[in-house]
Amino acid sequence: MSIKRSFLGVPIYLGSLLLALFLFAGTYSHAAHPDVPDSEDAIKAGEAIFNANCKTCHKLDQRYTGPALRGVTERRTLDWAKNFIVNSQALIQSGDAQAVALFREYNNIVMPAHDFLSDMEVMNLLSYIEYGGKEDASAQAAAGADGAAGASGGIPSEYLSIIVGVLILVLVLILVVLALIVSVLTKYLNTSEKVSEEDKAFINQKGDIKKVLTSDGVIVIVTTIVMALVVKTAIDGLYGIGIQQGYAPTQPIAYSHELHAGKYEIPCQYCHTGVEIGKSANIPSANICMNCHMHIQNVDGKEGVSPEIAKLYDAYDNNRPIEWVRIHNLPDLAYFNHAQHVKVGGIECQTCHGPIEEMEVVYQHSALTMGWCIDCHRNTEVNAQGNQYYDKLVQLHADSKDALKVKDIGGLECAKCHY
Ligand code: HEC
Ligand code: HEC
Ligand code: HEC
Ligand code: HEC
Ligand code: HEC
Ligand code: HEC
Repeated sequence: MSIKRSFLGVPIYLGSLLLALFLFAGTYSHAAHPDVPDSEDAIKAGEAIFNANCKTCHKLDQRYTGPALRGVTERRTLDWAKNFIVNSQALIQSGDAQAVALFREYNNIVMPAHDFLSDMEVMNLLSYIEYGGKEDASAQAAAGADGAAGASGGIPSEYLSIIVGVLILVLVLILVVLALIVSVLTKYLNTSEKVSEEDKAFINQKGDIKKVLTSDGVIVIVTTIVMALVVKTAIDGLYGIGIQQGYAPTQPIAYSHELHAGKYEIPCQYCHTGVEIGKSANIPSANICMNCHMHIQNVDGKEGVSPEIAKLYDAYDNNRPIEWVRIHNLPDLAYFNHAQHVKVGGIECQTCHGPIEEMEVVYQHSALTMGWCIDCHRNTEVNAQGNQYYDKLVQLHADSKDALKVKDIGGLECAKCHY
């Protein structure tokens, strides 16, 4: 009868609807601020600016060194987003609560100012951030599925967890409300004289909330949600093992690359003496610091010894090594050689380490996963110019359409990177 359909049908129907919502949560949409233009020209112009200035730290749909950017004009006001892009430090120093909280969340990583951008260029940037790069995002999600390259999938997990949490809460609430309705209705119908004995028997039998809760439909829905949650947590956990992107520990002495390598332009090799000759880049000993700090005791001509430099003197005088906290660290099973990349390959430090000369505190810029190494070996041409060692190989390779890439000289062989 019709009563039967409504009692069992409603929870199952709602449950399936929620399940469908949950499964498709990844394709959630958002509303950008209406003033952000969505024309193709604006998006294209924005993409070029993004690639030149932001790409090293940001992705649109994925957390990287900085947050995933898409949706920023929905999370924040348009003015806030513009001000942050143009000069984030000014906004942070003005005490803006959102900016300060974000800065803390990202370990005080300083986003460079972009005050050279015009208002128009910033709007174009926002067009690209809100509407651009959709194909990239789905390609990335697909690539993420095939191996270690996928540090995280296409769906930002913060969103997914929130959506799942809310859905479960709603599901529980609906079940509670249904249980109440059912018990009230049952009581009412049992006392009503218009209902026949046959129907009353049915109501008392099927209207039981225990039966609804233990019905096949509800069990299937609940198990599926629980299983999906367990699998997602496990996958996230596995991909996350050993990845420390963005790691920026506090060092024993507040040594600044921004000051030394940036403002005073001291060459990296002056301190990291190993980069061109060996496997390891080396962290300088106090002796190297003392070449200069024997004389430089404070900043900006101030009197006395700066407290940070006093720590350096203390270590030097007592012949105690400074206990720098290591930031980049591959597991023992992998072999990486600096000289091979810097000297032979001609790769800039910044390609792998990011804008070190702008960092007050050094942070890990790249993921350092196997997928990261392999991606570059697949796409980077061998620097064969003036290197006789490669002359023969280049000749042999001349027939091929593609340029000689690192993968062609064995850059994908397991034994090259694994002991
Ligand atoms: C050196 C790395 C770096 C570069 C380059 C960079 N950003 Fe950022 N960005 C960050 C970090 C880190 C944060 C998080 C806040 C902080 O630590 O200051 C951030 C935050 C943001 C935010 C705030 C996001 C939110 O959720 O509120 C926006 C918007 C933004 N960046 C846009 C840009 C744009 C546009 C560019 C290029 C013109 C850019 N960034 C270049 C590192 C960078
Ligand atoms: C005056 C000496 C000096 C100069 C010049 C210098 N560094 Fe450093 N570097 C250090 C010290 C000391 C540390 C360890 C403390 C820290 O992490 O800030 C370090 C740490 C690092 C780290 C992180 C090491 C880790 O633990 O994983 C990287 C990467 C790095 N430097 C790259 C560079 C690059 C690139 C340049 C040139 C643009 C450069 N450094 C210039 C002294 C220097
Ligand atoms: C080539 C010269 C040179 C070397 C090598 C050098 N420094 Fe410096 N350091 C400077 C100069 C120049 C200043 C800034 C002085 C100023 O602003 O007046 C400075 C400033 C500093 C400050 C800032 C002090 C403060 O109170 O803000 C610290 C800390 C510091 N250096 C630590 C180190 C450490 C640790 C090393 C070794 C890893 C090192 N420096 C190596 C030249 C050098
Ligand atoms: C092809 C990528 C790449 C380039 C280019 C590169 N590095 Fe590194 N760097 C790494 C990796 C990977 C590690 C971690 C190595 C490990 O744990 O064995 C690292 C570690 C370091 C460390 C920590 C100490 C050590 O030797 O393990 C310093 C300091 C450093 N790099 C400085 C530099 C400087 C300075 C340059 C440029 C002259 C540079 N790197 C160029 C990838 C690179
Ligand atoms: C930014 C690009 C880039 C990244 C990232 C990179 N490499 Fe390389 N790698 C190169 C280039 C270019 C060469 C070729 C150097 C040469 O000409 O010998 C190379 C060569 C090598 C070789 C020698 C291959 C051979 O056949 O002789 C090894 C081993 C290696 N890389 C390991 C690693 C490891 C491990 C990582 C990750 C931790 C890594 N690389 C990350 C660009 C990169
Ligand atoms: C270009 C360098 C490179 C090549 C080639 C390479 N690997 Fe790796 N591999 C790495 C690095 C770096 C790590 C450590 C990264 C990490 O911990 O995420 C790693 C990690 C691993 C791990 C451990 C994973 C983990 O999470 O602990 C295994 C297993 C592995 N590689 C197998 C292989 C096999 C099999 C091949 C050949 C098909 C291979 N690798 C080729 C660089 C390489």
